[in-house]
Amino acid sequence: MTSRRHLLTGAAAAGLGAAAGAGLMTAAGADDPVPVAATEALTTGTATVPFHGSRQAGIAEDPPAHASFVAFTLPAGTDRRSLARMMRLLTDDARRLTQGVPALGDTDATLAPLPARLTVTFGFGPGLYRAAGLPSPIADLPKFKIDRLERRWSGGDLLLQICADDPLTVAHTQRMLVKDTRPFGAVRWVQQGFRRSPGVQAPEHTQRNVMGQLDGTANPRGAEIDPAVWNSDGSTTLVVRRMRAEIETWDKLAVADKENAVGRRLESGAPLSGTREHDEPDFTKLDASGLPAMPDFSHVTRARVTDPSLKLLRRPYNYDGVPNAAGHPDSGLIFASFQKDIVRQYVPIQQRLAEKDLLNEWITPIGSAVFAVPPGCAEDGWVGDQVLA
Ligand code: HEM
Repeated sequence: MTSRRHLLTGAAAAGLGAAAGAGLMTAAGADDPVPVAATEALTTGTATVPFHGSRQAGIAEDPPAHASFVAFTLPAGTDRRSLARMMRLLTDDARRLTQGVPALGDTDATLAPLPARLTVTFGFGPGLYRAAGLPSPIADLPKFKIDRLERRWSGGDLLLQICADDPLTVAHTQRMLVKDTRPFGAVRWVQQGFRRSPGVQAPEHTQRNVMGQLDGTANPRGAEIDPAVWNSDGSTTLVVRRMRAEIETWDKLAVADKENAVGRRLESGAPLSGTREHDEPDFTKLDASGLPAMPDFSHVTRARVTDPSLKLLRRPYNYDGVPNAAGHPDSGLIFASFQKDIVRQYVPIQQRLAEKDLLNEWITPIGSAVFAVPPGCAEDGWVGDQVLA
């Protein structure tokens, strides 16, 4: 009889043969998964995003396919010194893991070598500044009438935004960082999301969200990001809103009704006043019946700003949880946006959307959190050193 051990060895040898043929493995053996050559097939896994610099990574780069947003609550008695200790430790983990190097004391070092564009971005909630005895550059959002916020998705004193093109990399990074945060704070909520995977479509294509819409068309790009996002010291702010999609009722709509709610065509993403995705919407144009081609209640009409310094850099991720017993989905968007100033940029747009936006019929804010994103750090520094040192 073939033993289990024999089967495993045989399978491992077969795996080694295939991998060695592709030139992917070291000669050390099938147990050693460390790639020796960045072949074309491995560029996704071995790609890295620089960690050091005046601005944190994980903001202006194209969003990787997977993200985990992890918020923590700091216990009473936390002070500036303990925060500095925590940020030194977490920065060290992040600078290693993002470059494919195991964290110090990494309990699964074999998982580190494929960073897959891993970024770890740190956000400080209002409570962190309170604990440090410092004035907070951000405040909780005002309550909007569309809000149905749940505590389990809201608030937080510290945020880790962990993004990579591979979910195992995100999981390992989350585990290492959460472990090192244990002495300093309690996990408050975790939101995991996804976008299209690399290689699925050409990178210049706008991705679709779980509601089937092209999402990201009017986002600032390249040089347009600077005036919207970065303060001169390299800091910015982050708003995270968990938006439940009412997919059951959305599914019942005709395509034309879905298009009116957003103000763009479903298939092409073109504004209802134009024909191509990147045509500028024309809010003065009338349709055949004499009504504005871009309805004044549409999401795009209400959300539009033209001043480049008032735009948001949206970096949303889809979520898709477990359907309930009746088969209804638990789906939506982890809407994340970066902007210099939440009060000047985010709040007025959100206010206009809360007052009138047909899309509100099919989206519900169920979580909300705000964070200041401190500047990046130098090789001999740590994230937050300019705030807490
Ligand atoms: C589930 C929630 C949401 C969905 C499904 C959604 C969907 C969309 C879609 C399909 C577009 C048009 C394509 C594009 O430019 O990306 C869009 C545009 C936009 N959305 Fe949302 N959105 C959501 C929530 C929000 C929230 C919470 C905000 C901010 C408060 C927001 C702000 C914007 C802005 C600023 C634009 C660009 C408008 C323009 O200048 O053309 N969205 N959104």
